[in-house]
Amino acid sequence: MDYRRSYVRDLFLLAPGTETSAYGWVKTRRDSKGISFVQLSDGSCFKDLQIVIEAGVIGEEVLRQITTGACLRFDGVIVESPAAGQAVELKATGAELFGPADPATYPLQKKGASFEFLREIAHLRARGNTFGAVFRVRNQAAFAIHNFFHKRGFHYVHTPIITASDAEGAGEMLQVTTMMESIQPLEGDEGQISYRIKGHNPADDFFGKPAYLTVSGQLEAETLALGMTNVYTFGPTFRAENSSTSRHLAEFWMVEPEMAFCDLEGDMHLAEEFLKEVIAHLLDFCGDDLAFFNQRIEPKLLETLEHVVTSNFEHLTYTEAVKLLEASGENFEYPVSWGTDLQSEHERWLTEVKVGRPVILTDYPKEIKAFYMRMNDDGRTVRAMDVLAPRIGEIIGGSQREERIDRLEARLRESGLSAEPYWWYLDLRRFGSAPHAGFGLGFERLLMYVTGMKNIRDVIPYSRTAGHADF
Ligand code: 4AD
Ligand code: MG
Repeated sequence: MDYRRSYVRDLFLLAPGTETSAYGWVKTRRDSKGISFVQLSDGSCFKDLQIVIEAGVIGEEVLRQITTGACLRFDGVIVESPAAGQAVELKATGAELFGPADPATYPLQKKGASFEFLREIAHLRARGNTFGAVFRVRNQAAFAIHNFFHKRGFHYVHTPIITASDAEGAGEMLQVTTMMESIQPLEGDEGQISYRIKGHNPADDFFGKPAYLTVSGQLEAETLALGMTNVYTFGPTFRAENSSTSRHLAEFWMVEPEMAFCDLEGDMHLAEEFLKEVIAHLLDFCGDDLAFFNQRIEPKLLETLEHVVTSNFEHLTYTEAVKLLEASGENFEYPVSWGTDLQSEHERWLTEVKVGRPVILTDYPKEIKAFYMRMNDDGRTVRAMDVLAPRIGEIIGGSQREERIDRLEARLRESGLSAEPYWWYLDLRRFGSAPHAGFGLGFERLLMYVTGMKNIRDVIPYSRTAGHADF
């Protein structure tokens, strides 16, 4: 057996009369007048291939085991299909059963199983319509992202996953340690969950100092941009956020371009072009999957995505947005006033009610943004930008970076951060500093937006959130 066989999606293109084989998993089987109709999927496309098995063609022993979830190869001939919604089907002449799936115990039989239930069997959910579609869109989106940057001369760089400095200064980091052997159960509490750490000295730990999973590749990406001009990273990032919301993961993927000789205007321009081009690519290459989401998950999804590709994003400053929110007459759960961080209800009102398309907010108060953002002349706001999308809220966070060393050192002090771990970051401003800017796109937020899926746990194969790291 070789990997270079046809996928189910290729079989739909074959002329009637062609002999071929189809490999995959049985979605459903229906018998009528001695003929069995099997819907077979290999995950290569949204559509299933219908296999028609006439009486006597396949031995009784195998035929009996063609049930939902079973894995087989069917040999046969492509024929025109009399059924609606499909041009061709495979008329079976034989079959090989690779693995049966006992109907009494196979967990994925019920139609309309809830997404909550499917999360518990995440190892099997890629076989269903919805998750096959989600993961195909995820694949195409990743490809479109690399393609977007490649065409524009950005270098794809790999920033470390393990780091000793907090890129966001927000203290949401997960620690990496090999000192577990020195972590002992408390006396009388063996096998329980309370521990004490015996003689824990970071200098003895694997890296000789406290180390963490990165919350963002930005700081390292900046070092590469200030040497290679335009770069981007695309990798996993980690945050120990306890908020158990439908929009937060502890492990998520971020796309972070960083550009030397670029200001916030250029950064916003890139972000808008980027989202539009990636969405346009998905409309072109994931038509069947998006049509399914449009029909079953989010009404008007296609219309919205097409609208985003052709319309211009609205630009507002944070100060303007707060005025609009204050004047909105809405009864928000969290009241808004200048200086408060915007909550998702505010972001949604701005994008959904007020503007009706993505909005870019700029120039936030320095207190609610990270230390590295460039200070405006007013001394109160920084050159930050967030791209907000209807239904999702914040999808991109970015900024022009502070390139002046005195301001940056002052901001570190103000934020209560020690300058020591950032010595190399400060060096960039000491030697050959340049204006530069970048942003981070939450890859799963983008996927929620383009698929209409309501929970971020359902757009990544295996979600990690507080209390959950199964599979
Ligand atoms: O706004 P954030 O925190 O920005 C940064 O990390 C910058 N260092 C990026 C940069 O300028 N290079 O995060 C960027 C994006 C958010 O807009 C959001 O889409 C996503 O990452 N994000 C999350 N996605 C899923 N789960 C979480 N816990 C997330 N936290 C942020
Ligand atoms: Mg942010």
